[in-house]
Amino acid sequence: MDKHVVLSGMQPSGELTIGHVAGALRNWVKLQHEYDSLFCVVDLHAITAKQEPAKLRKWTLDVAAMYLAAGVDPQQSTVFVQSHVPEHVQLAWVLTCLTGMGECTRMTQFKEKSDRYSDNINVGLFTYPILMAADILVYNAHVVPVGEDQKQHLELARNLAERFNHRYSETFNVPEPYIPDIGGRIMSLQEPTKKMSKSDPNTNASIFLVDSDDVIRNKIRRAVTDSESTIVFDEDHRPGISNLITLLHLATNVPVEQIVQQWSGATGYAEFKETVANAVADYIRPIRERFLTIRADTDALNAVLESGAEVARKRALKVLRKVYKKVGLVAL
Ligand code: TRP
Repeated sequence: MDKHVVLSGMQPSGELTIGHVAGALRNWVKLQHEYDSLFCVVDLHAITAKQEPAKLRKWTLDVAAMYLAAGVDPQQSTVFVQSHVPEHVQLAWVLTCLTGMGECTRMTQFKEKSDRYSDNINVGLFTYPILMAADILVYNAHVVPVGEDQKQHLELARNLAERFNHRYSETFNVPEPYIPDIGGRIMSLQEPTKKMSKSDPNTNASIFLVDSDDVIRNKIRRAVTDSESTIVFDEDHRPGISNLITLLHLATNVPVEQIVQQWSGATGYAEFKETVANAVADYIRPIRERFLTIRADTDALNAVLESGAEVARKRALKVLRKVYKKVGLVAL
């Protein structure tokens, strides 16, 4: 029996953080053994915001190298760059013609981004979710690991798949989201009610995967907590300390309840922070070291991306041909 297809991607719009490992890469690494897996660097999505060309180029390779450093195995998974597979954009056009204006205007992320970047509300930002739907449907993916904030976009992909199938004939799988479990959501170290982000201007708020051991430890020592002194997991009322517990869980695999139990006698945060700081530094170190090795060998990295693009294109072209034919475009 054919394995089900899983597809996901990240934007090369900054340095990846521990949040990307917790919320995504960790799961991709597990899923790649059970699924026929495709993981792409979505550079075309990144240019919906202003990007410096040299940085975009660097970050695209950084993100690809980080996939591999985190354990995505190019022998198991197809790893590629979105813009290397033009079929995504070609399918996106067909889907654009099936999407109502209203479906894009009501996207929460579009509204948020147009508020935040009011000097650059471009049409790409508006149709962003349609390109994302194309990324998924062009491989007939069954499962799409995404963060909570992408659920609405995935809903559009599902609607477009059903709409196309209904208007023409059965073509697309209706993809399911795969939302990570506990430990999937790492919050800012400085404002623990906000998600940790690669584009946060305050670099103390995020643990980057390229941070040195000392930088990681210092950021955790300085993490914002609260004026209490007990180690309790309560994301609503004690977000700072809960985030540190989540980080310790991520780094050591010890269940949250057990951590809370072990630290129930604590009367301050200093010792706990020190434990978290060391555990997180130990956890990130091998990822960083693998990343530096992989990133230094650009030829090998490019070779992975080239063969990934080749495999992806073949598959995408098959689906795109079918779609063009069903729509009534004349084949040559
Ligand atoms: N929009 C996603 C994000 O910012 C990235 C993305 C683009 C994606 N295309 C995708 C994720 C396809 C999963 C599948 O997180």
